Amino acid sequence: MRKSLGVVLAVVPVLAALVVTAPGASAAATTLKAGASAKGRVFGAAVAANRLGESAYVTTLNREFNQATPENEMKWDATEPNRGQFTYGNADRVVNHARGQGMAVRGHTLVWHSQLPGWVSNIGSGSELLSVMRNHISNVAGRYRGQIAYWDVVNEAFADGTSGARRSTVFQQRIGNGYIEEAFRAARTADPSAKLCYNDYNTDGQNAKSTAVYNMVRDFKARGVPIDCVGFQAHLSTGSVPGDIQANLQRFANLGVDVHITELDIGGSGTSQADAYARVIRACLAVSRCNAITVWGVTDKYSWRASQTPLLFDGNYNKKPAYNSVLSVLNS
Ligand code: G3I
Repeated sequence: MRKSLGVVLAVVPVLAALVVTAPGASAAATTLKAGASAKGRVFGAAVAANRLGESAYVTTLNREFNQATPENEMKWDATEPNRGQFTYGNADRVVNHARGQGMAVRGHTLVWHSQLPGWVSNIGSGSELLSVMRNHISNVAGRYRGQIAYWDVVNEAFADGTSGARRSTVFQQRIGNGYIEEAFRAARTADPSAKLCYNDYNTDGQNAKSTAVYNMVRDFKARGVPIDCVGFQAHLSTGSVPGDIQANLQRFANLGVDVHITELDIGGSGTSQADAYARVIRACLAVSRCNAITVWGVTDKYSWRASQTPLLFDGNYNKKPAYNSVLSVLNS
């Protein structure tokens, strides 16, 4: 008895070691994209064409991310600055870089009231604006047909605050409520293989604005308007991560659309920033249809809110505590 107990005690550590090193046991991922892939997700970054000449930027981008969103290069002012004159130099730069690295591309964005050239804002007739909008979508989405995983077809079409109203953009004023579904239909025609998303901010938790978007998506699904996904921008700060972000993502997913975190950045630093990032990533991983996470830039120094240091790499491309936190949630 005493002898057999001794054998058991001697064998236990050997067995434990075998379990730890068993063939096929997956090692912890050491990059964001590997960690996300192991969870069936993609991990992207907004990419600026004019930074692709900086080697540390490119090294970090290529090592960590497997999806790219052109930060400004596909917007209306970049792609059709003058009526009927399409320019794709910078958009091509981002798309070619991404595809050359095997990254998916998220198209951003076909219809948005901001970064909209004056010639569009000045169109007074609804029928003319609708035909201009369709032509824009047909050209831009058509150029990249087959190369875009997801298109942010319409961006930020709802008002802030508690009204639940549509934002009063030139598209809303001239064309009326129907412009959003018209944009989705035009995008489907232009690029049938791209998944088509609606994208907005301050919709990460359940509130009047996100409920208005929810009602639109529910209506689109009921009427067969082609929508596949909803993007939640998630421009946040350490104190503003909604406690119900997972529940909000899930209620949209339950409508039959994928849900994406599309422009994640969280102002702050150190542990509180790391914890806030972890909450967002955990919420996404808890929702099976939350299959894409994108941070809005590679390095703090080029962030649109650089003074708030909201990203995962500092200005010298060092990994921040927030990076380690995200990676560890992806590995959990
Ligand atoms: O391209 C011009 C350049 O020629 C000029 O010399 C320079 C001088 O300021 O401006 C350059 O344009 C800037 C552009 O970024 C490209 O760098 C604009 O001024 C600047 O306003 C613009 O900011 C972008 C912002 O959208 C515009 O609304 C940010 O980079 C971009 O990160 C930001 O992204 C948006 C998403 O598309 C939608 N959701 C919100 C998010 C943050 O605002």
